[in-house]
Amino acid sequence: MDLLIFGPPGAGKGTQAATLSKSLGMVQIATGDLMRKAVKSGSDLGKRFEHYMSQGLYVPDDMTIELLANRLDEGDAQNGAIFDGFPRTVAQAEALEGLLGKISRKINGILNLEVDLDSIVDRISGRRVCESCGQTYHVRYNPPPKPIDGEGSVRCVSCGKINSIIQRKDDNQDVVKSRNEIYLNQTLPILDFYKKKYGACIVHSLNGVGTQEEVYDRLRLAIETIRSGHKAP
Ligand code: AP5
Repeated sequence: MDLLIFGPPGAGKGTQAATLSKSLGMVQIATGDLMRKAVKSGSDLGKRFEHYMSQGLYVPDDMTIELLANRLDEGDAQNGAIFDGFPRTVAQAEALEGLLGKISRKINGILNLEVDLDSIVDRISGRRVCESCGQTYHVRYNPPPKPIDGEGSVRCVSCGKINSIIQRKDDNQDVVKSRNEIYLNQTLPILDFYKKKYGACIVHSLNGVGTQEEVYDRLRLAIETIRSGHKAP
């Protein structure tokens, strides 16, 4: 089964995709995480990604599609995936259709998280992430752990690394608002692309406001609906 988790920046896609990945045993493919990993490596490719990401701009389609295609070739992605943050343009959606089509797969359902702009700004401005493993925190809703010693060292609950919890460079109010505008103009039209191709029922729109557990429960219900209509090849 292939699922797409969809929604504006800060909607909770990464948080929920990580939890769903564990509970469903499906790999999460997040282009933002793959790009941040390349940036951290200091490679030339990473520097090109950083140029766009730090301004809240989309990385060009050709670079993004190549990154995704390489990830999709990896062994753990052979039986389905949760796509998080990809596709973000209609050109990327068309490319994904082509890539999945070649291996007799297709998107089985789109989980569309609906969140208002005030909540988005609140969530993103309070977000903290572990640079090492990508674990996401929020200063109020899911606070990072307390310091473990007098020096203020903090240990990530997920990977155990010390002092790796940071605020992303693109998590400031101005960049968040421009990322949201870009989402409305370039990413939202993807829903129509899929509806035209597979019918309106491919899109499962959910209220993304509420506790993480409440949103997770809504997602699981939607996934059961998708699963009941999907027959494994
Ligand atoms: P990416 O990393 O994908 O960022 P994004 O889509 O902008 O999404 P975010 O990671 O900001 O938010 P999210 O929805 O995952 O929310 P999260 O779970 O973290 O992309 C970053 C950049 O990379 C892009 O701007 C672009 O430059 C580039 N890029 C990536 N993919 C690309 C592509 N396909 N094409 C071109 N460029 C691409 O949650 C947010 C916060 O809210 C967290 O602190 C979390 O703890 C908290 N939270 C989550 N759920 C709840 C809840 N229910 N209640 C309260 N708080 C919550």
